[in-house]
Amino acid sequence: MEVDVPQCGYCQAGQIMNVASLLAKTPSPTEDQIATAMNGNICRCGTYHRIKECYCIGLIKMK
Ligand code: FES
Repeated sequence: MEVDVPQCGYCQAGQIMNVASLLAKTPSPTEDQIATAMNGNICRCGTYHRIKECYCIGLIKMK
């Protein structure tokens, strides 16, 4: 809600699975690792920047 990520929401389940998988393998990923993890999940609404921002905010809040 803070970043207002989803537009249509179609890709959100895949995005959430991606972040869960990334964090299981890499608890403190770099921005490049986040970008690489997002590569396989297409967002037809183009919300990639907001998704990445949400990853980063979530990581900060988890610390
Ligand atoms: S928010 Fe619409 S496909 Fe990602």
